[in-house]
Amino acid sequence: MPYPVFKDNREFINALKANNDLVTIEQEVDWDLEMGAIVRRVCERKSASPYFKKIRDYPGFEALGAPLATYKRLAIAMGMKPDAFVPEISNEYVKRTTGDPIKSILLDKKKAPCKENIWTGKDADLFKLPGPMVHDGDGGRYLATWHFVVSKDLETQAVNWGMYRQMVFDEKTMVGPVLPFSDMGKMFYGKYVPKNKPMPFATVIGCDPLAGVAACAPSPIPEDEFTGMLMGAPVELVKCETCDLEVPAHAEIIIEGEVIPNLLIEEAPFGEYTGYRTSPREPRTVYRIKAITFRNNPILTVSNMGVPTDEGQLLRSFSLGLEMRKLLESQGIPITGVFMLPESTHHMVVVGVKPIYSNIASQIANLVFGSKLSPWFHMVIVVDEETDIYNKDDVIHALATKCHPIRGIRKYEQSVGTPLYPFADPEDRKWSRGAQILFDCTFPLHWPKSDLPIKVSFNNVYPKEIQEKVLQNWKNYGFKD
Ligand SMILES: Cc1cc2nc3c(=O)[nH]c(=O)nc-3n(C[C@H](O)[C@H](O)[C@H](O)COP(=O)(O)O)c2cc1C
Repeated sequence: MPYPVFKDNREFINALKANNDLVTIEQEVDWDLEMGAIVRRVCERKSASPYFKKIRDYPGFEALGAPLATYKRLAIAMGMKPDAFVPEISNEYVKRTTGDPIKSILLDKKKAPCKENIWTGKDADLFKLPGPMVHDGDGGRYLATWHFVVSKDLETQAVNWGMYRQMVFDEKTMVGPVLPFSDMGKMFYGKYVPKNKPMPFATVIGCDPLAGVAACAPSPIPEDEFTGMLMGAPVELVKCETCDLEVPAHAEIIIEGEVIPNLLIEEAPFGEYTGYRTSPREPRTVYRIKAITFRNNPILTVSNMGVPTDEGQLLRSFSLGLEMRKLLESQGIPITGVFMLPESTHHMVVVGVKPIYSNIASQIANLVFGSKLSPWFHMVIVVDEETDIYNKDDVIHALATKCHPIRGIRKYEQSVGTPLYPFADPEDRKWSRGAQILFDCTFPLHWPKSDLPIKVSFNNVYPKEIQEKVLQNWKNYGFKD
């Protein structure tokens, strides 16, 4: 095996512990706001992952909070050294996910831990699972905050894994938003609803960490095979109890059922990834459940969306940026890198480029704004190779000094957006309409070389031998850092 893989959430928890990135909470915590508040504070302080051993009213159930909310945890999940730098993790991710997809394999049900307990009929009751009240003001208890929903295309049979939040409505019903441009949205609203056919689904909670990474990545590769590529080994799947879908055999909890066409039930409000509560309570997509299967002592995974940085923001930024990098590279654009800032709640991306021809920044913006990735972000900053795309100070400096306040800014007034954009007016949110903007931080090519402002930095204005001398003597001068 080329790199370590965690077959399941439990092996990952052990790895977090071994890397001092886990706090095991033996004291009982309340599913009603307390657990959510702990996870929220963990995200805002970038603390270790909380592992809840006792949840009020739910003996035998455990929970893991903020499983992937930092680059350190992402590096651990990838089997890399915990202090790997973002560019290293990015390069490794691109390397693993370029090439041949790795097909999943099917396990016998007897070998699948997720079948250790099976609830059907009256037993399949959503209130028997410790769904937390995540934020005060939420419209209900959200069981599925770090999970994915499996579904199958009615015509092509293509399988999709995607994260779509789910609120418990009653014992047998969950409800949540499925955006019309998402893969599941296109499948359900475009194919099942017109034929008035229920769509089988399976919600997978507490899977191995890289399946979660894959489920929220906007890759064209089927997510189970994408997970296999990230893991360097095939994912082990098992058949569902009540439908023709397959789910990861080592997941903690599986909820099976059908998405109901032509019926909507009210959902939300909910604290969202933009760091605001944006969606009003509104009729949304309905999931009717038929079975729940789970491992002994199942461990629920809990994400808490809000101000940065939660795992959705971190991983969506990471994978959106890297899918953009693949797209731009595949078109032969001479980029030096792409980095989407998680603190921008994946709204802002920085693209580094060698500006070897005029208007290259516009070409980049047109490509990324024109791609499938575009509804999720609206700001592109293009910088030249002088700027370190991973260094926020450097990016802000380039933005404030190289971007002409009129010529350097290009506006795209009509675009696909999300209903969650806090800046959009309510009518735009209702119709998923957005707007986008490019900040071109490259100096125009037609300027004479002698007129180009020279960047005054240690790396730029000293001869190499002086730089080396200073670096070699740095500690001798008395500096500690
Ligand atoms: C934690 C989390 C929650 C999300 N919740 C939703 C949701 O409720 N509805 C939705 O349409 N997209 C949601 N998304 C975005 C989708 O998961 C995202 O589009 C994903 O990549 C699915 O991609 P696909 O639609 O291209 O398959 C969420 C993402 C994350 C990380």
